[in-house]
Amino acid sequence: MLDEIRERIANARRIVAFTGAGMSVESGIPAFRGPGGLWRTFKAEDLATPAAFERNPRLVWEWYDARRQNMAKAEPNAGHCALAGLERRAPEFLLVTQNIDGLHDRAGSRNVVKLHGDIWMLRCTVCGREHQDLRAPLPDVPPYCECGRMLRPAVVWFGEFLPPGVWSKSELAASRAEVFLTIGTSAVVYPAAGLIDVAKAGGATVIEINPQETPYSGAVDYSLRGAAGDILPRIL
Ligand code: OAD
Repeated sequence: MLDEIRERIANARRIVAFTGAGMSVESGIPAFRGPGGLWRTFKAEDLATPAAFERNPRLVWEWYDARRQNMAKAEPNAGHCALAGLERRAPEFLLVTQNIDGLHDRAGSRNVVKLHGDIWMLRCTVCGREHQDLRAPLPDVPPYCECGRMLRPAVVWFGEFLPPGVWSKSELAASRAEVFLTIGTSAVVYPAAGLIDVAKAGGATVIEINPQETPYSGAVDYSLRGAAGDILPRIL
């Protein structure tokens, strides 16, 4: 089966890889769901919603600052590197990630769409200006903008829209893909997970990589049970 998958990938002109938190588990960054997942210990509605931030910006910022510190220590794993390598050889390649940790960039991926934003970017809650800040820990939380108002992480919280333009770019690439890889995502958060349906409807060969079953496991062309850092270097 792996040979068949390798051949499909090698012959494809347009490839999309869609990644989720499982991609970074082997780099030491916990996922949200499943064993060890963040949503087992923390409540999303207390930390990852606009209402939570309005209620207690300091608490939300402390949580994001702690995650930034953990992510700053993490290194891209063999799976991130394999995807960066695939981008260099594929005629057309787009990486669509739900991850905010920046590890795909650090592994060398260049054509990356960040559906849920980027934890290293800060955005002013009033003037909207965004800038990158890689300091971890931040010297003060909450941090403030030059305009004097509070900054927030430029990530997508539950109930918010995706950043402008990211959906149309991802949807178009998924609809045209010949091979679509879905890696390390529980595929339960929409609209992101809907890209798998878009790819299938467009006729892509869909390959899933995940140690656990997902709602899409029965519907994809190949469902490989295992860790991204182990399987990706073997098929790419
Ligand atoms: P989840 O935590 O929901 O799912 C992670 C998936 O990774 C699970 O299906 C695991 O089985 C799988 N996994 C674990 N270790 C793995 C490994 N080594 N290799 C491959 N897969 C592995 O994460 P996401 O699907 O990314 O959104 O979650 C989607 C969104 O929900 C996130 O972007 C975040 C979250 O709440 C927001 O915060 C808006």
